[in-house]
Amino acid sequence: MITRTKIKLRDKRLADAPDNYAWGTDPELAELDAAPLLTNVFDEYLAGYACELRYPSPTRHSFAIETLDGKHIGNCAYYNISETKSEVEMGIIIGDRDYWGKGYGTDAVTTLLNHIFRQTKLNRIHLKTLTSNPRAHKCFEKCGFVPCGKLTENSYDFTLMEIHRQQREREQPEGGKQSAYKVAGQ
Ligand SMILES: CC(C)(COP(=O)(O)OP(=O)(O)OC[C@H]1O[C@@H](n2cnc3c(N)ncnc32)[C@H](O)[C@@H]1OP(=O)(O)O)[C@@H](O)C(=O)NCCC(=O)NCCS
Repeated sequence: MITRTKIKLRDKRLADAPDNYAWGTDPELAELDAAPLLTNVFDEYLAGYACELRYPSPTRHSFAIETLDGKHIGNCAYYNISETKSEVEMGIIIGDRDYWGKGYGTDAVTTLLNHIFRQTKLNRIHLKTLTSNPRAHKCFEKCGFVPCGKLTENSYDFTLMEIHRQQREREQPEGGKQSAYKVAGQ
């Protein structure tokens, strides 16, 4: 469990499945994320979700995002780790619309960045987001990401963004240190 100002990142649980299913079958969220809409029935989804929890991918680290009073509002993850390039990709979704535009995404991304830079030796974190999603851009820019390219994939136009460890340490020298957030059990 990693706690910050507005949110906590914690491991995913089976009990999160209904929220995740609702978000995965929401056409607006799928469009904002340029992701395929989930079409399987809940029981099928649940079986796959339980399997992912039981046998987590060694190359993907996922977290549920909770408000400080314990409401599950989204998820974030880092994946596609490349030791050779010293980089990793990250993604986030705040599925609960009531929490959009109120700083929860910025707090969650900042927490995840701090965690990655603290727990790994990787030097670069990157992401892609639809060019037509200004709220996501603003959120990522507030966290220190800078645009680094464009990509068109499956007719979607994406903006690529990145943040480097050195830049992060210059801008937020305390960011990756223990004092910036609490990790349960440490
Ligand atoms: C993208 C997302 C993670 C951002 O999290 P969030 O909690 O909504 O973002 P924050 O409130 O921390 O920051 C958003 C900023 O954009 C601003 N904003 C909101 N709508 C905007 C718009 N249409 N145009 C420009 N800026 C906008 C907000 O005012 C805020 O800036 P401020 O703090 O200076 O006022 C979240 O909204 C989300 O998951 N949305 C649904 C799915 C999605 O977009 N997925 C794509 C992720 S790549």
